Amino acid sequence: MNSEKILEILKKVNYPGFSRDIVSFGLVNEAEFEDGKALVKINLTSSEPQLPLQLKKQIEEALGQYEEIVQTDVGITVKKEASFPTSSDENRISGIDKIIAIASGKGGVGKSTLAVNLACTLSRLGETLPTPLKIGLMDCDVYGPSVPLLLGSTERPQLIDENILAPNESFGIKLMSMGLLIDEESPVVWRGPMVMKTIQQFANNVEWGELDYLLIDLPPGTGDAQLSLAQTLPLDGTVIVTTPQKAAVDVARRGARMFEKVNVPILGVVENMSFLENPENGEKNFIFGRGGGEKTSQDLNVRLLGQVPLDPNVREGGDHGIPVVISHANCGASLAFKEIASKLMEEIE
Ligand SMILES: Nc1ncnc2c1ncn2[C@@H]1O[C@H](COP(=O)(O)OP(=O)(O)O)[C@@H](O)[C@H]1O
Ligand SMILES: [Mg+2]
Repeated sequence: MNSEKILEILKKVNYPGFSRDIVSFGLVNEAEFEDGKALVKINLTSSEPQLPLQLKKQIEEALGQYEEIVQTDVGITVKKEASFPTSSDENRISGIDKIIAIASGKGGVGKSTLAVNLACTLSRLGETLPTPLKIGLMDCDVYGPSVPLLLGSTERPQLIDENILAPNESFGIKLMSMGLLIDEESPVVWRGPMVMKTIQQFANNVEWGELDYLLIDLPPGTGDAQLSLAQTLPLDGTVIVTTPQKAAVDVARRGARMFEKVNVPILGVVENMSFLENPENGEKNFIFGRGGGEKTSQDLNVRLLGQVPLDPNVREGGDHGIPVVISHANCGASLAFKEIASKLMEEIE
């Protein structure tokens, strides 16, 4: 038994709720062995009160299986969730030109659908430019990470160096997702505490290479978690997704105010599920009401980047892991995504 062996043992201890171990998460500060005594020091950043105890118990159990270890001393230092710097030049991610977050006040409005279709559209738009655009998509939605399924890329990311993950690649898009690392069965309460750290690792320990645009699928909501996420990543701007109901305006506005607090510009509003078009006569049926996107963009004093119709091809594309802009490049929804992508590029330049 020696200090290296202690570290080996700790590599078998998973962070509660994750399929990754505490060593690879970078939480082990000290691991030593002397005269039958194992000394372990862990640094955590979490506001989850049960977490240190749970982790201590897991570590003691793992060490307890070795007879040579007669005594264990596991110290866990908990820092309160750090206040991260706001977006500034210092914490830019090298090689990445523009970072744009896709946000919404509530779930189910089509945030992920917009994120993947925008990513594919931007990448396709780039094909007509002298140098193609390189696009990445980072899925930070811990509660419903759906980007891997939407892009049909669910394999585990490769570790290319001790601490560096390679992003998956699909339709020319580089992607990384909480869904590729989180254990599906893990209870949501355990996910929260690790989010910030994981997001930082997504930014710093993923080999994104050179990117023109990195899109971020944020978790829905307008609370503290989203705020710290927005602060953790050096965002250049955000797109707010909403639905046509008038009731959606308040939620979207709350989300927008959050970005104002951290000086992240709002690039525009996208209204999704705007209407259903009758294929016989082209008549538009506004089944979810109308005006939500328009009103939101007026309130926020930004552009309405586009209105995406309800289209069964959108959902089907998602189910098969082929974004609609690729499977049905000329349907109404795909044309709307194209318009949104080019307006977005205008806004950010
Ligand atoms: N324009 C659309 N037409 C038809 N179905 C859509 C459209 N936008 C989204 N959906 C479907 O609605 C559901 C929720 O969309 P999703 O992008 O996962 O929302 P969010 O990420 O905001 O939770 C998905 O099943 C998706 O396929
Ligand atoms: Mg989603």
